[in-house]
Amino acid sequence: MSINKKGNFLIDLVILYVYKKFCMYSIWDNIWEKDVYSKEDDRTIRSQVKLDIFKSMGVDFGNYQSIGDFGGGAGYVVEEILKAPNVIKEVCLYDGSQTALQLAKEKLDYRKDIVCKFYHQDLNTPLPADHNKFDLILCFGILEHLEKMDQCLDSVYNCLKSGGDLLIVWSYRNSFFYIQRKILHLLGKWNYSYQKEVTKKFLDRFLDGKFKIVSQKIVPDICGKGILTSMDIISHKLIDATGRYMFIHLKKI
Ligand SMILES: C[S@@+](CC[C@H](N)C(=O)[O-])C[C@H]1O[C@@H](n2cnc3c(N)ncnc32)[C@H](O)[C@@H]1O
Repeated sequence: MSINKKGNFLIDLVILYVYKKFCMYSIWDNIWEKDVYSKEDDRTIRSQVKLDIFKSMGVDFGNYQSIGDFGGGAGYVVEEILKAPNVIKEVCLYDGSQTALQLAKEKLDYRKDIVCKFYHQDLNTPLPADHNKFDLILCFGILEHLEKMDQCLDSVYNCLKSGGDLLIVWSYRNSFFYIQRKILHLLGKWNYSYQKEVTKKFLDRFLDGKFKIVSQKIVPDICGKGILTSMDIISHKLIDATGRYMFIHLKKI
């Protein structure tokens, strides 16, 4: 390689590093600061609905002592879990957005009775092997945004106690929202960073025998209102295997 080419290669590497380190995070910082996504009422209701769906699948949130929320954002889901009767002693929230973590800290500050820890963490990179161990790990809307989702699953596996539960909410591919996302992407108008919607086939391969699937459910939408939601609801009525989100309850083997 000539000196010139080596120089260009190094510059590319530096640009890539700076982009990964700062730009990826700033997308989500922006979303949590000013995007319609972060509207408080909407986030709260959506968190309640997600938990209700898991309850309908047999999950009892009253039983867990330690919870890890991976990609926990501004802490809405954890806050809802804490509102109901529980035996929780510790909650750890991991997110790549400092803005989200700051909001989560403010939201959970009044819970002096439990240990709340907040980690600024790119979940594409490994957590230390001897990190905290949890009874329950939540991955709501995070795996689809990770280019190295296998890495995150390894971290989840390492951080989950044996027999512990993992709950995943993942955008599903057989949905009109998938088509919309693809079109927006092509037009350069997709604002929510990297996204990969899941299929059942992909999921089975992805879990790779590490977790036992306790139950799974495809849901047309979580309290959406627009035309795409209506189309997903109709399509889900006709064909079970379509819908916007996949809810999965897993147990560490
Ligand atoms: C769709 S939101 C889900 C938030 C929350 N789990 C919920 O259900 O309300 C995705 C979250 O993942 C975080 N995130 C995106 N990419 C990340 C990364 N590489 N590492 C850590 N967190 C990331 C974002 O900051 C955001 O808070």
